[in-house]
Amino acid sequence: MSSSTDALVRRSERLRTDDLDLGAFARHPLDPATLRCLRYMHDVEGHTACYLRDLLATRAHRDPEITAFLACWGYEEHWHGEALADVLRAHGQDGGPDRLRLVRARLGRFDALRPAAFTALSALSRHLVAVHMTWGAVNEWTTQAAYARLLDTADHPVLGELLRRIMRQEGRHIDFYVGQARRRLTESAAARRLTRAALARWWAPVGSGVMPAREVAFLARHLFGDDEGRAAARRIDRNVDRLPGQGGLHLVERAARAGAGAQTPDAGPTSTARPSGPERSTDPERPTTTEREYSHAC
Ligand SMILES: [Fe+2]
Ligand SMILES: [Fe+2]
Repeated sequence: MSSSTDALVRRSERLRTDDLDLGAFARHPLDPATLRCLRYMHDVEGHTACYLRDLLATRAHRDPEITAFLACWGYEEHWHGEALADVLRAHGQDGGPDRLRLVRARLGRFDALRPAAFTALSALSRHLVAVHMTWGAVNEWTTQAAYARLLDTADHPVLGELLRRIMRQEGRHIDFYVGQARRRLTESAAARRLTRAALARWWAPVGSGVMPAREVAFLARHLFGDDEGRAAARRIDRNVDRLPGQGGLHLVERAARAGAGAQTPDAGPTSTARPSGPERSTDPERPTTTEREYSHAC
């Protein structure tokens, strides 16, 4: 196991929230748009075990470095979901198992076939693992950026501290997936071709396979629909560009544009971003203070 993965596994822990003043939400509740984003994030964090099921159905389960990471990843993402559930409950809304049961009840019949499909694809190409690792990197980058945007737009001290703690762990997930993706893509032209084709054809924002389209569109519009959101999307695309063979895909900016422009009559208000603040970069093409602080936490 590489020293970076070993360090990541040893540092893995349950997200600490017991010292946060959740009572502050009674005195200063979050706005409806922020809560709507948090419901999405809660549902997707809570779906990690199902993503894990699909990953382990591939030959990724034969790599002990990957399985060591995935054990910790699933645990940490579970507690991210639980922490967001606490925030929802503090606003009198459902969170945790009761809500996740409804999310999983919405899954179509195809969901039951996904493990078999992934097993079959994995038998056809040993490079499916490279696709998964690269896909994971894009999703973790996107998740990190969404939390950074929400931290900025919600402007709530307790939520801000909670999101910073989550982002610190997401930063370690980024480190793992990017390291794996870079190594596997560097080693094989076939892996580069397969990954590029898969991303170009099938990549969609994290959660879009689970959440209703109107919720995906709302998140895109609220967090990535303004100038700062579009700049954040472009920064993720530039990170993807730096992966071997994956330049010029423009995945996230395209998805943000499509989501932000979607006809969603109930999509709610657009971004409530503050006009200025300490997290903001004066150059939209450069990472914000928040992104720099948390994107490589190992
Ligand atoms: Fe997470
Ligand atoms: Fe993560």
